[in-house]
Amino acid sequence: MNIPSLMSMSPSVALITGASSGIGLALTQHLLHKNWHVVLADINPPPPSSSLPTDRTLFIPCDVSSWNAQASLFSTAFAWHQRLDFAALNAGIDDRDDIFHSLSRSIESPPSKPNMKTFEVNLLAVYYGIKLFAHYASLNPVPGGKIVITASAAGLYALPAIPQYSATKHGLVGLTRALAPQAAAHNISINAICPAMVQTGLAPPGLMEGFPAEHTTPMETVLRAFDELMDEGRAWNGQVVEAAQGELWYRSQCEPLGSARESMEFMVREKAELWGEVYRERNVGFAREFGGKEER
Ligand SMILES: NC(=O)c1ccc[n+]([C@@H]2O[C@H](COP(=O)([O-])OP(=O)(O)OC[C@H]3O[C@@H](n4cnc5c(N)ncnc54)[C@H](O)[C@@H]3O)[C@@H](O)[C@H]2O)c1
Repeated sequence: MNIPSLMSMSPSVALITGASSGIGLALTQHLLHKNWHVVLADINPPPPSSSLPTDRTLFIPCDVSSWNAQASLFSTAFAWHQRLDFAALNAGIDDRDDIFHSLSRSIESPPSKPNMKTFEVNLLAVYYGIKLFAHYASLNPVPGGKIVITASAAGLYALPAIPQYSATKHGLVGLTRALAPQAAAHNISINAICPAMVQTGLAPPGLMEGFPAEHTTPMETVLRAFDELMDEGRAWNGQVVEAAQGELWYRSQCEPLGSARESMEFMVREKAELWGEVYRERNVGFAREFGGKEER
């Protein structure tokens, strides 16, 4: 008779940020159907109509843009079943400032400090989430786990109406590709999905109404992207997957051209070890020295 391992005795646990609406809520329901236990993190509670099973879900109110709030979220989430197998770093908002349409054209009225909440929620909070997940995943019965970041098609194509959003989503694409090789050494995968327009609560009134159904991306396509990126067999890492209408496209980085090809080949491939040597110790030192100062 097989003695069940510690891993198989305790349920797989997912943590989803921005889980009370749209993509996060759909992913919560999807994982519950696959017998996961799910920690829902959001500034708002899930709607009562979502009828979540109380024995397999844990809602933790959390503003992910606060380091302290996210640190407490991850600590509570891990304590639930002493493991965290998957994190969907999904919470996101659209733009919260304007540069060119709000010029005062008066020397007496210089601009005030811009609202950078979009960067705090979409980019900084994801970095916080990766750092926290890496810590708790290293304490799993079998160390390791999977992260899927919700970037956006706006991380591949700049959207002029929402430059803050576009910048943060491009940032997430770069973060995914840059961190994945280091994560792999710790049995952690980091991938990103880049959905085109999906029917959710994200866009302001009027935008979705202007989109014919055939130009929106069904939630099923987005969930298929999550399924593929979480699939043990495929073992994806560092992938950026565009989800548009019914299709998924695994997008590679832009190819260097001409003389850039040679320099990039030299810089990234031949000198990879040198980059590691020069930065590893130094960055660990910076991180230690900073030690949580200026906490939010
Ligand atoms: N809907 C789309 O067309 C689309 C396309 C591409 C990418 N995305 C991305 O998908 C992700 C989910 O968005 P959605 O479309 O489901 O929108 P949504 O507005 O329906 O859901 C976002 C959720 O994030 C929560 N949230 C916002 N700020 C938060 C914070 N500071 N801390 C914790 N939770 C917070 C909201 O309360 C909400 O429940 C976002 O990152 C978004 O940028 C959406």
